[in-house]
Formats: sequence, C-alpha cells, structure tokens
Amino acid sequence: MDTALSLDREALVNGYLRNRERADRIFDSVRPEAYESRPIPLRNPICFYEGHLPAFAVNTIVKRGLGRPGVDEKLETLFERGIDPEDEKSRPKGASAWPSRIEIRSFGAAADRLVLDALANADIADESNPVLAGGLAVHTVLEHDSMHHETLAYIFHRLPYDQKIRPSGLASPRIGGEPPPRRSVRIPAGRATLGAAPGEIPFGWDNEFPRISADVPAFDIDVDSVTNRDFREFLEAGGYDDESLWDDEGWAWRAEHGVRHPLFWELHRGTWMWRGMWDLIPLPMAWPAWVSHAEASAFARWKGRRLPTEAEFHRAAYGTPEGIEREQPWGDAPPDATRGHFDFAAADPVPVGSYPRGTSAWGVRDLVGNGWEWTSTPFAPFPGFAPMPSYPEYSADFFDGKHYVMKGASPMTAKELVRRSFRNWFRPTYPYVYAKFRTVRGGPLA
Ligand SMILES: [Fe+2]
Repeated sequence: MDTALSLDREALVNGYLRNRERADRIFDSVRPEAYESRPIPLRNPICFYEGHLPAFAVNTIVKRGLGRPGVDEKLETLFERGIDPEDEKSRPKGASAWPSRIEIRSFGAAADRLVLDALANADIADESNPVLAGGLAVHTVLEHDSMHHETLAYIFHRLPYDQKIRPSGLASPRIGGEPPPRRSVRIPAGRATLGAAPGEIPFGWDNEFPRISADVPAFDIDVDSVTNRDFREFLEAGGYDDESLWDDEGWAWRAEHGVRHPLFWELHRGTWMWRGMWDLIPLPMAWPAWVSHAEASAFARWKGRRLPTEAEFHRAAYGTPEGIEREQPWGDAPPDATRGHFDFAAADPVPVGSYPRGTSAWGVRDLVGNGWEWTSTPFAPFPGFAPMPSYPEYSADFFDGKHYVMKGASPMTAKELVRRSFRNWFRPTYPYVYAKFRTVRGGPLA
C-alpha cells in the first residue's frame, strides 16, 4: 500500500464520519412521533432514509466492491433504494411495518463498523476491480450521503413545525429589503464545456462524463435570479390562470393539485408568508422564488423569455470574455462560504446578490448557491456515457425525457458537490426541491 493511499484513508474515514454525524443531527431534528411519517407523499417515510444511508454504504463498498458479506441481508434489501414514481398510484407499497428506530440505528452502527474497517484496512482502490478502481465505490458512498442530506432537508421542510426539534443557536434569517431592479446582461456567442474528461476530476458521477463542448449563440440572461417580488407580479397578473403560459404537463399538474402559488408560499389573512424550515415569516421579497420547473417556465413565457439551456448556464457561469473557461463562476479558487449560499449554510435562502465574491466573469450573480437553477435541458447522457460500475442505475434510470437538468447549488448542497460538471435533475412538476431560476432571451430557441 503506498503512502498516498494511506493518507487518503484518513481523509476518507474522516469524510465518512463527518457525513454520518451530519445525518444523525438531521434525524435528531424529527420528533419520534413523526419518524414513520411521509412528509412528501411520493418519497419513502423518514425511517427509510436512516436505514438507507448505511445500507447503501455496505451494499456498495463491502458487498458489491469487496465481495464480502454485509450485516443483515433483509435490511440491506429493505433499505436498498429510494424511489421516484410518477404518481402516488404507481408508488411501491413498501414494507407494512418498518423496523423500530432502535433496530435501524443498531443496523447503522454495525454497517458503519464494517465500512470503517474497509476504509482503514481493505484494498478499497483495487485497480483490477472496476467497482473499486480509483476509490470509486468509496467516493460514490461519500457523495451519496451528502446528496441525501440535502434531500432530507427538503423532505423535513414539509413536516409540521410541531413535529420538528428546532436546533439551538439557529441564526435569524437574512430577510433583506427590496430586491435590486431586474437587469440582464448580454453573453456573446462562444463555446461552453460541459462534463469532464475521465481522470480530470477525482470523482464524478457517470452522467458527468465525458467532456463535451457546445457552441452557444449569443443570449441575454438575468443578472439575478427571479425573486419573490417578481414572481408575485406573475401571480397577481393571473399567471396561474393563463393556460397559454403553461405546457400540457404543467397545466395538468396545476389543475390536478390545485396549484395556485409556489409551494414555499402560504397566504395567511391576506398576507403572503414564506414557509421556512423553522419559521413562517412574511414573504421576503428579495429572496429567490423557489418554484417548480413548470412554474419557472410559465413565468419565463409571461416575460417573453425562456429558461436557459444547460449549455447557456455553463457559458454564463464559467465562460469569460477572454475565451478561457473557469472551474467556478468566480475563478478557479475552491468553493467557500464567501462565494455563495451553500454547504449547509441554512435551509432557507438569502437575498439575491448577497455574494459579490461569487459573481461570474459576465457579472451574473448567484449562479452557484441560494437554490439550484432550473434549465430547459432534459436530463440525458452525454455522447459516450457509460453507467458507473459502483452504482449503474444512478443516472440511467432517469434518461426518460421526463426530468430536467438543474445546475449550481442550494443552501443545503455540500461544497464537495460544487463543481462545474455536477448535474442534478428533477421532474418539472416536483415542487419540493430548493430550486430557483433565471430567464434568458436570444439563442436558437427564441
Ligand atoms: Fe439513495
């Protein structure tokens, strides 16, 4: 075993432990009576996820990677995978009686022992094994954990306040005043690089490979994300009642679910309020509007504009007037707390434009942080895509034309996921995610 790998082991063990502690803190914020509740009907109950994280680690590293036995075959199967069904009717029935929290936690502790032993002692970067080569299985587990911490946050966001335990020392939300006036900036025609070449980054999910280059015609893009102030104008102008602004799927969703406003908004005695993670507060006008893709698209159409494509997002975020492309909107420095609202900074947004040190070369703000950004690009593989051996179904199951790419990061996105090639994706009518948007005009679709 070489020295470099033995040094890596310590970082991997620390990364795993840090993730497990973060998960514990998240699950500890749920009152016991809500443990088996399902705050989002299309997702599993909360207890599933407390078993899923350690089960995934054992299944991926210990069983699939090292070919060793796990802890408990039955539980590793029960907690194997989350779900993304189209509607409630197609939701799997799941287990009728879940194990108790004590059983789930003791399974988690046993799983952790196996995983930590593997991280410390096993040949976890065995180059002859495609699941392990380059530390693939371990990185898969670490990023899988981080991503679930975010999905848990938006699931818990929906729990009634009396079913959550408020953490002590919570900072007050930054409300801000009036948002800055809407402005857009012209991005000249140029090339954008998407994805990454194999070996270019220490780890990436299969959908990030290979690296591709796209020609992007000139377009105008909003400097700031669309705010609650902007979106309220759309709502008050009857945007939710104007069928011409919606595509068929969005219009049907709006009718079936009685959608009259963004999910994070609530009307109380005639006043719009923001349903935050911990508090209901008067709607902060300078915060980005967190909405579904369907709502974002309707707003853009109302403005005579559209959502950016994935390539346009890259051009606006990482391109420069000199033609060089950057690793991050602000340059090549790694992401930190001065560049944007991410890395578990809070569960709610901050006013748009709060991070001048995160601005792109074109002057576009908040491209990374304060909410994922919807694009108009359906989630699809780059030419040359191959499923990853450590988690072959990760992306491939979602190349169905029914999901759209999101870029950037939310306040609850781990900073290790803040990389240029990272792609997120959701259904256009899934309103729970921490996602904002901006609009563009020009280019081939105008
Ligand atoms: Fe998962």
